[in-house]
Amino acid sequence: AAASPGFLYRARAFDTPVDPFTSADGPGFRHDDDLGLLVSHDDGTIVARGPFATVAEAHPTAPVIDLRDGILLPGLVDTHVHFPQVRVIGALGMPLLEWLDRCALPEEQRLASPAYAATIAGEFVAGLVSAGTTTSLVFGSHFASAVDALFAEAERFGLRVTSGLVVSDRILPEPLLTTPERAYDESVELATRWHGSGRLRYAVTPRFSLSASDPILAACGAVMESVRDVCFTSHVNENNAEVATVAGQFPDRAHYVDTYDHHALLGPLSVLAHDVHPTDAELAVMAARGSSVAWCPTSNAALGSGLFPLRRHLDAGVRVALGSDVGAGTGFSIFKEGLQAYFLQHLMGAEGMPLGAGHLLHLSTSAGAAALGLADTVGDLSEGKQFDALLLRPPPGTALDIGLRHADSPESELGKIFALASDADVADVWVGGEQIASGGFVRPVNRL
Ligand code: GUN
Ligand code: ZN
Repeated sequence: AAASPGFLYRARAFDTPVDPFTSADGPGFRHDDDLGLLVSHDDGTIVARGPFATVAEAHPTAPVIDLRDGILLPGLVDTHVHFPQVRVIGALGMPLLEWLDRCALPEEQRLASPAYAATIAGEFVAGLVSAGTTTSLVFGSHFASAVDALFAEAERFGLRVTSGLVVSDRILPEPLLTTPERAYDESVELATRWHGSGRLRYAVTPRFSLSASDPILAACGAVMESVRDVCFTSHVNENNAEVATVAGQFPDRAHYVDTYDHHALLGPLSVLAHDVHPTDAELAVMAARGSSVAWCPTSNAALGSGLFPLRRHLDAGVRVALGSDVGAGTGFSIFKEGLQAYFLQHLMGAEGMPLGAGHLLHLSTSAGAAALGLADTVGDLSEGKQFDALLLRPPPGTALDIGLRHADSPESELGKIFALASDADVADVWVGGEQIASGGFVRPVNRL
């Protein structure tokens, strides 16, 4: 018998194949009322796309999966989320450095226990899948055994995860510190095991320059030279007290961004989280390197870090995508980050950037894919991309259910999604054509 060509998904769908920030015309998103997507059984690629009737006629033997009871979106992309902080979400009222001391760092020390780290990895990965996040750049742990646990759990669910060992050699509590030599050895060992294995990749990850001396940043540079196509991530310009401290620690550097750039850590696969307080010179360096910024709206609000200057980033040519920044951020939902992004820019008045629903979907999906160097693989539902997707199916009678049934345009539907969607509405999730959540229940690959 002829091999099955794959499943033919039938759905109402939204995605953003065109960047709404650079293309002024049109609604800023693509909407299909009755879309057909043929997804290859072999590798999870979308091999045909078009009006359902057309694709069905061309592939009459493909089994149809009818998703018209929901709304199909590309899988969400979270470009900054901390694996060891899943249990500290929700602390209120502290600025960054106090929050690290009192909330984050005590919990992160508990991941020295491999058993504890495995439990946290389970909770963390379930949090991503439940939120519809299929691709993420994950800030790892200071303990190599815990980073192994994260990669192993991500692999079990087939998630697209880029992560690495967090390294620091000063200021933090002693159990979280390492040496440049050990940082290099453990990073290379982890990268050898996980980088390029399935959908997993490695990211060189100094916590931030405040806790990383020049020798350990140089060791990070050495890891990047010895591992091909490795990513880089860290924090920058999040909080005024942090920025002032780093300036004092690095008198020979031009600015905070230069503490990383000096060691050749910035390139197109580099993502710096926050950048709430950049100078124009720093934006110019990031643009020249092709690096991206992970904008974390709920974290910036919860820690009172400041008002993210989106317009200045885009005017300077710096790519921006969204991050949840769990656990300073208030949850795994990228819809909530999009909504908070909209609120913030609206409140900033003339300095803000007016954001429509298409901008929010772009920031939540295709912008994240681009920031992580995965724009050819994921980010929208075009032919040739992997089928990474989520189906929103709000429970009957909820505000989102009612809103979607009475929306008068696709634009208003998408606006309602960002205003109202939560984990409870994410019914089904696929990565590379493999379904890892069904009816809201999360299961490892092939165990549905
Ligand atoms: N800067 C250094 N570490 C952290 C962290 O864990 N969270 C945030 N938001 N900023 C940081
Ligand atoms: Zn962070």
